[in-house]
Amino acid sequence: MLSKIYSASCFGLDSFSVEIEVDITNGLPQTAIVGLPDQAVRESRERVKSALKNSGFSLPPKKITVNLAPANVKKEGPSFDLPIALGLLSASGLLKPDTLHKVIFAGELALDGSLRSIKGALALAQLARKSKFTLVLPYSNSREASLESEVTILTANNLKEVVSWINGESTLKRLNTHWLSPEKNLETDDSTDFSEVKGQFHAKRAAEIVASGEHNLIFIGPPGAGKTMIAKRIPSILPDLSQSEYLEIVKIHSAAGLCANGHLLNLRRPFRSPHHTISQIGMVGGGSFPRPGEISLSHHGVLFLDEFPEFRRDAIEGLRAPLEDGCILISRAKENLVFPAQFLLVCAMNPCPCGFLTSPQRACQCSMNQIHNYHRKISGPILDRIDLHVEIPAIQYKDLTNQNVQESSADIRKRVNHAREIQQKRFPASFNKTNALMSVKDIRKFCVTTKNGNLLLEQAMKGLQLSARGYYKILKVARTISDMAESEMIREEHIAEAIQYRTLDRNWWG
Ligand SMILES: Nc1ncnc2c1ncn2[C@@H]1O[C@H](COP(=O)(O)OP(=O)(O)OP(=O)(O)O)[C@@H](O)[C@H]1O
Ligand SMILES: [Mg+2]
Ligand SMILES: [Zn+2]
Repeated sequence: MLSKIYSASCFGLDSFSVEIEVDITNGLPQTAIVGLPDQAVRESRERVKSALKNSGFSLPPKKITVNLAPANVKKEGPSFDLPIALGLLSASGLLKPDTLHKVIFAGELALDGSLRSIKGALALAQLARKSKFTLVLPYSNSREASLESEVTILTANNLKEVVSWINGESTLKRLNTHWLSPEKNLETDDSTDFSEVKGQFHAKRAAEIVASGEHNLIFIGPPGAGKTMIAKRIPSILPDLSQSEYLEIVKIHSAAGLCANGHLLNLRRPFRSPHHTISQIGMVGGGSFPRPGEISLSHHGVLFLDEFPEFRRDAIEGLRAPLEDGCILISRAKENLVFPAQFLLVCAMNPCPCGFLTSPQRACQCSMNQIHNYHRKISGPILDRIDLHVEIPAIQYKDLTNQNVQESSADIRKRVNHAREIQQKRFPASFNKTNALMSVKDIRKFCVTTKNGNLLLEQAMKGLQLSARGYYKILKVARTISDMAESEMIREEHIAEAIQYRTLDRNWWG
């Protein structure tokens, strides 16, 4: 007997529908899965057999063929386990056929028949809404799927529950699809609040500038200076997420399989900190079944690259295009995919391999050659794209033991929100545009400097031999600094502060 079950799978961030046909005929007992399955789909044969047996169903010893249509698209992952199991039961006459109409099933089966979460549940929910199908999902995917409204989503814990629902013997839990209100979930986590960072006002000021204008930043300092500590707290001073930003973030994380059991649904901006051994594909995305890389997982949040010079060169170079475009294009033989990647890049490095080159307390053990090689690892084009270069000295004992209350993230965020409002008024035509994203034309129009400011800029250009990009970066950062000071004109002191954030242009180590 022949049966047909509807399912869906993800490609990139979006999903496409898949029909699962199962044919059971007389012949040697064997099972074949066709229709370009990957290894995980092929292995589903064994999982499904055990899950069916352990859920109390027995299949006749016959020849079984499972076809995943459309047959010309590669299928990945274990999410077809549930629909394949249902297809087998249906082809054996164990399911009422009328309920199967207009329902998409997806879920991985454990050997005991329970359902495990799948990747891309939010994209599946969007597909179900568009095609007006009901969606049946594992219970552990509930929270991410519930963000999609105007769609019927049912969740189950195991295969047996789904079978009894199809046969009209019981009901399944229906998801309340809703939007979580951002205000409700914004209580900051005390463990990552700026109030914990003692002293280091220069670095905190830089963090505030970065958050206000969406600039990129590199911290340079000795071990233990607090580079990692401050970087981790930057998301806590970024503006609140809008609903559309939040949905974009969850969709990317859902496609990467990182949302099961409600992870990342706390409405905070992502903070990603990949290890320096990460591959280029891990960083920018791609692969035979294209996955979002770290740059997309930090969309609307912070990508923190600790020990920056240790990263692989190709992984770093891969950041160049997305830093300018806010997205990454993954080229495929048949079609191209675009993953969003608008992230705030924060890097950290020591000034030399031993870490103490700039330390007044400890002597540096490195040779000149070692220091040069260390710095050569970070290429000029990447440094050029980083707006603020900030030196963090080791914290002084008196600062560390100071009992004064430090400013909290919530207080800093208020000022950041205010600076963002000024930028929103400046660029009314483009939602959420920031100073860092200004084009050269925008810079000419909006970065008007005082006469003295101009003179200073000219001197810096000559003295520091800045590139054109370096010049524009100074103007953009100065624009943000003057917005923070609520000044329409960019004044001399704003330019002076922006210039001092170009440390690495000055070859200060050599
Ligand atoms: N300004 C500070 N206020 C309070 N604690 C601090 C400060 N700076 C550093 N610390 C403490 O020192 C620890 C180490 O800091 P952190 O890991 O940020 O250093 P780092 O600069 O990243 O060093 P490395 O170069 O070794 O990675 C922190 O976990 C924190 O407990
Ligand atoms: Mg560190
Ligand atoms: Zn050294």
